[in-house]
Amino acid sequence: MAEHLKLDNSERLYKEAQELIPGGMMGIRRPYNFVPGEYPIFFDSAKGGKVTDADGNEYLDMLCAYGPIIIGHREREIDAAVIKQIKEKGFCMSIVQEIQNTLAKKVTALVPSAEKVVFCKTGSDATTLAGRIARSFTGKAKIIRCGYHGWHDWCVEQKGGVLPKLYEDTLEFHYNDLQGLEDLLKAHAGDVALIIMTPIGHPNAHEVEMPRPGFLEGAKKLAEQHGAVLCFDEIRTGFRVSLGGAQKFFGVTPHMSVFGKAMANGYEISMVAGRRDIMDVLVSKAFVSSTYFNNTLAMVGSLATINMLERDGILDVISKRGHAFCKKVRKYVKASGLPVTFTGEPWMPYITFDKEDTGRYKKLRTAFYTQLIRRRVFLQPYHHGYVCYRHSSKDLGHAADMIAESLEEIRKGT
Ligand SMILES: Cc1ncc(COP(=O)(O)O)c(C=O)c1O
Repeated sequence: MAEHLKLDNSERLYKEAQELIPGGMMGIRRPYNFVPGEYPIFFDSAKGGKVTDADGNEYLDMLCAYGPIIIGHREREIDAAVIKQIKEKGFCMSIVQEIQNTLAKKVTALVPSAEKVVFCKTGSDATTLAGRIARSFTGKAKIIRCGYHGWHDWCVEQKGGVLPKLYEDTLEFHYNDLQGLEDLLKAHAGDVALIIMTPIGHPNAHEVEMPRPGFLEGAKKLAEQHGAVLCFDEIRTGFRVSLGGAQKFFGVTPHMSVFGKAMANGYEISMVAGRRDIMDVLVSKAFVSSTYFNNTLAMVGSLATINMLERDGILDVISKRGHAFCKKVRKYVKASGLPVTFTGEPWMPYITFDKEDTGRYKKLRTAFYTQLIRRRVFLQPYHHGYVCYRHSSKDLGHAADMIAESLEEIRKGT
């Protein structure tokens, strides 16, 4: 029986934070997204594939900051490049520095849909800019979306403070439902500017879905038939599934795509990439500018990350280790006989409990993730995990064993 963790400092800091910050912290980092009372609330430090909480408990970090940590925390080579930029050049100036072009050359060489790119900071910046570019290019209004695309007005789930007119031109379809997409396009014929979709299905708290044969190709065909721009939201899949993103892996090149997270191993940068004629609306028809979009620290971090991913064949290693991990976990899941589903192989492993009317799955989920965190494997109950380069085969083997023990513990209790 694994023991409840000592979390006194986390609880104390949370109490303090609630007096200072609404909810103590933002969005998905709040305790109700984990198992309240069982998970740490504050981390203190991180190194490689591990994190240490405010009470000194160390965990195998399989959430990887929700995706940016593709290599590992505090990567010496990447951080050294960033520190060099701080010490020798500086990074916040009134006009741009050459690194902008260097990074643009690198990513346009790697990403099939990237003829031109714009760098911004967050994934939400990039998805919002994609909408503006597509609307400007097509002269149409509507956006059809599939997946989570950020916190901005047109796609945030919780509607408080958002004027309906800011999202009523945004429509939603389900991943792998080509018919649903076609129906929406027909119902709004002539008025759809953008179809934005994740190339792998990963809606919150749902199993991770790979594209059915023909789904991505079909979406592109439909976009072209209806004069809409197709954008892949590769914020999670980019620089993870392959160096050219999921678009390269699955062999379907959209008209536009957005990247963030893994492109800089934790430094804050995102980008919109797309066909030259589409992106060029930003020359004089549409506008984008922000004080910090040109800030070069994250560009340096991104270039160092991508160079390392490329030079050391890191994504192949992650994929190989991810497959081995998933094979083990699948075996344990099957042997448990519990109503559990395991998806996301090899990059985004996720253990979900099969939904049924009694709500028993919620109890099983809470019990399982309680057991797992007590065994110091940091995964999130409502979000898939990630495999990073600094997770060694031994680490991942251990995580799989802890998953097996946690399943066994709740099986005994059912
Ligand atoms: C697929 C996808 N798109 C967009 C976003 C928004 O990115 P950000 O949180 O950096 O604004 C996210 C964030 O998790 C995401 O997963």
